[in-house]
Amino acid sequence: MKLEPFRLERYFARHEFSAAYLLCASDCESMELGDLLALEPQAQERFLSLRLGYTESLGDPALRQAIARLYARITADQVLVHAGAEEAIFNFMQVTLSSGDHVIVQTPCYQSLGAVARGLGATVTEWCGDPMRAWELDLDLLKKALTQRTKLVVVNFPHNPTGFLPTAAFVQELSLLSERHGFVIFSDEVYRGLELDPADRLPALADLNDRAVSLGVMSKTYGLAGLRIGWIATRNRRLFEALAGFKDYTTICNSAPSEFLAALALRHAQGIVDRNLEIIRANLERLDRFFADQGERFAWHRPKAGPIAFPTLLHGAVDAFCADLLKQTGVLLLPGTLYGTGTNALRIGFGRKNLPEALARLERYIQLSMGSAGE
Ligand SMILES: Cc1ncc(COP(=O)(O)O)c(C=O)c1O
Repeated sequence: MKLEPFRLERYFARHEFSAAYLLCASDCESMELGDLLALEPQAQERFLSLRLGYTESLGDPALRQAIARLYARITADQVLVHAGAEEAIFNFMQVTLSSGDHVIVQTPCYQSLGAVARGLGATVTEWCGDPMRAWELDLDLLKKALTQRTKLVVVNFPHNPTGFLPTAAFVQELSLLSERHGFVIFSDEVYRGLELDPADRLPALADLNDRAVSLGVMSKTYGLAGLRIGWIATRNRRLFEALAGFKDYTTICNSAPSEFLAALALRHAQGIVDRNLEIIRANLERLDRFFADQGERFAWHRPKAGPIAFPTLLHGAVDAFCADLLKQTGVLLLPGTLYGTGTNALRIGFGRKNLPEALARLERYIQLSMGSAGE
C-alpha cells in the first residue's frame, strides 16, 4: 500500500509546537489533568490505583457505555474504541475496500478520508462542496457520481475545514440513497455536539442507518486530543467484527489511563461541551467584527457548528500570505492549498482561549504590511 504525504499533518508537524500562536487549530481548548480528575470525587485515587496491563481489545466497558450514551440507538457492544479517529479511519478503509472499488468522498476533506482509499487502489471520486455557496453539497451531484461499483460514500458533518452543516432532511436522503444503491456511509462526526444552535444537530448516521458507521473522538468537541481515544459506532455487525479483528494488527488495545480519563470526561460531557461552546461563541463574535472590518480582503462565512472556518483571501496568494504572517508575527494560519482545493481559502480555528491575542497580531500585520486592499 502506498500512501501520499499527509500535507496538513506535515505542516502541523513543522509548525505546531514552534509557532507562538495557533490560529488554525481544529480542536477546542484542552484541559489540565487535575481539572479533569476534579470532576468526580475519588477520581484521583481511582486513577492512581489503575493497573497498567493490557486492556480489553474492544475498549473499556465503562468507556463504551459512556460513548453509547451519545447516540439514540447504539448500545455499548456496538462501539469499538480506537487510538484516535485516525486509527479508526485507517482500519475502516482497510477492512472495507479492495483495489478497484469505487468510493465517493466529500471534498475538501481531512486528507486521510480520501488518501487511505486511494492508497488501497480504490477509485476515488470527489464530491465537492460549492465554494460560491459556502461549500454546500449537492445531492444531485452525488447521484450522478454513483456507479455499480460504488461501495462507500464518505462524509464529514460538521465539516473540516469549512464548517458546512447540512439539514437533517439532507442526511435522511443520503441514508435512503445508501439503502437504495447499497453503498456504506462512513460519517466522520468528530465535531458533532459543537452546533451553535442545538436544533441544528444532525442525527448520527449510525442511528439512522443500520449499515452506516459514525466516527467520533475525544479530540475535537471535548478538546482532549492528547488522550488519543476515538471510536466507531455501528449496527453493522459484520463490519464491526472485521474491524475488531483488524485492530489486532494495529494497536491491539487502548491505553488504560486514556480510557479511564475519556470515560470520566464523557460522564461530564455536557459541562465540557458548554465550556467549549462558550469559547467558540465569544471568539466568533470577534471574528465577525474582524471580517466585517476586513471585507475587502477576506470573504467570510460564519459556520453553524464547529471550531473552524474557511474564509477566502481575496488578494494575493494564500501560501505566501500565511508564510509571511508566521515569519513576522508567529501566528499560524493554514493555507487551504494543503487541502488541494485550488481556491485561495485559509483555515482559521476559534476553539482556543488565546484567539484574541492571535487575532490582534493578525490585525496589526494587515495594517502594517498590506496597506490598502488590492496592493
Ligand atoms: C475531520 C477529521 N477527522 C478525523 C481527524 C483525526 O482525529 P484525531 O487526530 O483525533 O485522530 C481529524 C483531525 O484533525 C479531523 O479533522
